[in-house]
Amino acid sequence: MARSTIFVCPHCGQALHESQSSAQCPNGHTFDRAKEGYLNLLVAGRLPSSVTPGDTPDSLQARRRFLSGGWYQPIATAVTDLLRIANGPVLDVGCGEGFYLSHIDADNTYGIDISKKAIQMASKAYPMSQFAVASSYRLPVDNSSCAGVFTVFAPHSLSEYQRILIPGGTWVTVTPGPHHLKEMRPSRDDTVEEREQRRSEPPEHAMHAERLQFTLDLTQEAAVDLFSMTPLRWQTAAHARPVIEVSVDVWIASGTNLM
Ligand SMILES: C[S@@+](CC[C@H](N)C(=O)[O-])C[C@H]1O[C@@H](n2cnc3c(N)ncnc32)[C@H](O)[C@@H]1O
Ligand SMILES: [Zn+2]
Repeated sequence: MARSTIFVCPHCGQALHESQSSAQCPNGHTFDRAKEGYLNLLVAGRLPSSVTPGDTPDSLQARRRFLSGGWYQPIATAVTDLLRIANGPVLDVGCGEGFYLSHIDADNTYGIDISKKAIQMASKAYPMSQFAVASSYRLPVDNSSCAGVFTVFAPHSLSEYQRILIPGGTWVTVTPGPHHLKEMRPSRDDTVEEREQRRSEPPEHAMHAERLQFTLDLTQEAAVDLFSMTPLRWQTAAHARPVIEVSVDVWIASGTNLM
């Protein structure tokens, strides 16, 4: 039996009729289903050539090890609490390997990410959710189809959130605050000052925003994994390094679709 889905054809926006092996829209656009169960709904040619689609396999494995250690559980709990009222499908935009989505208490949960490897890992680990390779900026998701949508540390579009949410639906974003992982960052310079200034403001368009701050006392392995799963790993020449005592400082912002 075909299962219902919020995913639509990325070419023409029509509903997808899904089967075990593929999905097809009424205009004949067809998408294969991977053996792990996800669909690839990324349309070739819509990404600028400078974009590298997503994380490397090593950084994804590091993220999975780190997150499954429970170090970021307070973030997962904050997101889950805000989405508890969502009565209907919930979508994780930029879901990575699926950790946060796996905490959401909803009958129908969906994840998209631009990284095929991330979506492979997510589909394998969480077969009860539906996943697709897709871009945050052009979601292959039906209008007014989601009761909740969220993003943790990944690119997202508030106008896409508004389009896909039902009236009264909830969105949640998690973005870095000014002191996030500051002990691992390169020594201070003007760019750091500017970044801290920018991040000390609540995210634009948030109806509610609160800072969640805590300190982690990591194992050496967890510190290396945390370092490896962030862009900090590219900054070794600038003296960024994994340390075991590290500050977590994030904005948890949320809003409602009033349309
Ligand atoms: C820092 S990771 C966060 C992943 C996950 N939300 C988590 O916190 O564990 C950022 C994610 O955004 C994805 N990403 C980057 N650009 C994207 C885009 N344009 N559309 C969708 N996903 C994107 C990456 O592939 C990566 O999985
Ligand atoms: Zn189509």
